[in-house]
Amino acid sequence: MKLVLLGAPGAGKGTQAVRIAEYLKIPHISTGDIFRKNLKEETAVGLKAKAYIDKGQLVPDEVTCEIVELRLKEADCKNGFLLDGFPRNLQQAKALDKMTSLDKVVNLDVDLKALAGRLTGRRVCDKCGESYHISTKKDEVCDKCGGKLYQRADDTLETVNSRLEVYSASTAPLIEYYKDKGILVDVDGMQSIEQVFESVKKVL
Ligand code: AP5
Ligand code: MG
Repeated sequence: MKLVLLGAPGAGKGTQAVRIAEYLKIPHISTGDIFRKNLKEETAVGLKAKAYIDKGQLVPDEVTCEIVELRLKEADCKNGFLLDGFPRNLQQAKALDKMTSLDKVVNLDVDLKALAGRLTGRRVCDKCGESYHISTKKDEVCDKCGGKLYQRADDTLETVNSRLEVYSASTAPLIEYYKDKGILVDVDGMQSIEQVFESVKKVL
């Protein structure tokens, strides 16, 4: 199945993507994760992306679309994939239309007012990428793999506000774009993590 997971920053895309990818046995492709990996390895792409990520702005479309196009050509995407964080504006959606045809777009519907708290309290494992929240996770060790938890550099209140503005202006219009194509399914992202996953499974 060829899927896109749509949703605001902090809607739970990464959290659900790990579960969905495992459930459907398809690769999870997160453009944010790809940029952060490149940043850590100090590649040319990583250094270019840093200035945008730090400000909560979108990395230019030509850089992002090329990365996705190359990734979708890899052998593991032959039987499907789950895109998380791409596309993020109309230009990227149109570029994606030229690369492949999607089966479904799952939109995680959330109250934007709840997201600043989710993001500023998020902690991520530096080994496996699992996300936690400080309200329920009291130590700094990943339950899954024992890795160390860290706070993403763009999870400060200032950058979070800018990411939410970018979402409303550039990404939210994609809901209508995919609704018009008849492939959008909405899931209530304000439920618990497990309930959201159950709802996603029902609509797939
Ligand atoms: P990216 O990494 O994609 O970040 P994002 O879209 O801002 O989304 P997040 O990863 O912050 O949120 P999420 O929805 O994955 O939430 P999560 O599951 O972790 O992008 C980062 C940057 O890279 C962008 O700003 C941009 O600069 C660049 N970039 C990336 N893609 C790009 C593109 N296509 N074009 C251009 N630039 C691009 O959950 C968040 C928190 O909430 C966690 O603490 C989690 O435990 C908690 N949580 C999750 N689900 C629930 C729930 N149901 N109830 C309560 N808490 C929950
Ligand atoms: Mg994410």
